Amino acid sequence: MDKQDSSEAPAAESPAGADAFSPIAWRDGGLWLLDQTLLPAEEEWIDCSTPEIIADAIRRLAVRGAPAIGVSAAYGLVVGLRDVERAEDLGSRFEEVYELLASTRPTAVNLRWALDYGRRVFEEHRAGGPEATRAALLEWAKGVHADDIDSCRRMGEHAVELFREGDKVLTHCNAGALATGGYGTAVGVITSCFHHGRLAQVWVDETRPLLQGARLTAWELSRLNIPYRVVTDSSVGALMSRDMVDRVVVGSDRIAANGDVANKIGTYTVAVLAARHGVPFYVAAPLSTIDLHTATGDDIPIEIRDPEEVTRIAGVDMSPNTEMAQNFAFDVTPNDLVAAIITEVGVLRAPYVESIREAFAQAEAG
Ligand code: MRU
Repeated sequence: MDKQDSSEAPAAESPAGADAFSPIAWRDGGLWLLDQTLLPAEEEWIDCSTPEIIADAIRRLAVRGAPAIGVSAAYGLVVGLRDVERAEDLGSRFEEVYELLASTRPTAVNLRWALDYGRRVFEEHRAGGPEATRAALLEWAKGVHADDIDSCRRMGEHAVELFREGDKVLTHCNAGALATGGYGTAVGVITSCFHHGRLAQVWVDETRPLLQGARLTAWELSRLNIPYRVVTDSSVGALMSRDMVDRVVVGSDRIAANGDVANKIGTYTVAVLAARHGVPFYVAAPLSTIDLHTATGDDIPIEIRDPEEVTRIAGVDMSPNTEMAQNFAFDVTPNDLVAAIITEVGVLRAPYVESIREAFAQAEAG
């Protein structure tokens, strides 16, 4: 697997725009992903020349965050069809690549969303042969990437009405540019509100076990020059009881049709504490994260990861037996704890079954 350090990083060719960063780039006819497992110490890009490399990057969280996984999978379909020469081989190869990528992570619905959307594009163009199919899929994948960034920017604009000057905001995990095509969902909201003078400081909880808050959100906020403090996950209750948190904003991996929200493990704990202390709890997510086929949070598959991620930090054992742990990657926050869902088409409020249905109708109507 080829790697490049940040001096040759391909970020400049991403469609994120001059003021936004993307962890995903299409350059010289190939896909490059920023290796997030190495941040903040090193900025290395992975040359994703095969779908197996992309699948491995998704599994080990080199690329992570629901929208970023979806965008990577979209490009992955193009990479996967690269060597197909005969039209009659297109179908079987597409299915192989689809299954490989779909099997990587179960909770983030943006993955299936992108792959199913890609299948429709594939079916529309496969009669034209391998070259034409690849060209159509690449154009489509670039569109998915650009649309994701655009959705994030629109979420940021819609969110401004929810924040006030001087607000201190808490976020969990990383829902920033790194977790999306660029700009970010929750961190996009934070960025926009900061630039509108509606936000003074961000509390970044570490987000054990893999420290997406401490490593990734802090890295992004540093680059954005937005004031922040990293706190342990167990500090959230104390901060709220001292009136030091005005709002919470997080991203999501899947939102059920009734507004129940799956997100990084620990989100539910933050939401319960927010309810206890009267702090509004907001979720920022594009419509591609809302799964109308999943009725409630009970139906959302929760990824269970290697127990070693809990017991070992930076290669050092923190617990006597590396197998005696449980590692749920996500939890579900019931919709009654969610004050609003910020989407690209606007701010949704309870009852979510209705507001979600209306949001999709609005998006379809253009
Ligand atoms: O396991 P991860 O790091 O992929 O989990 C990511 C999250 O939980 C994010 O909050 C979520 O995907 C929203 S990203 C905009």
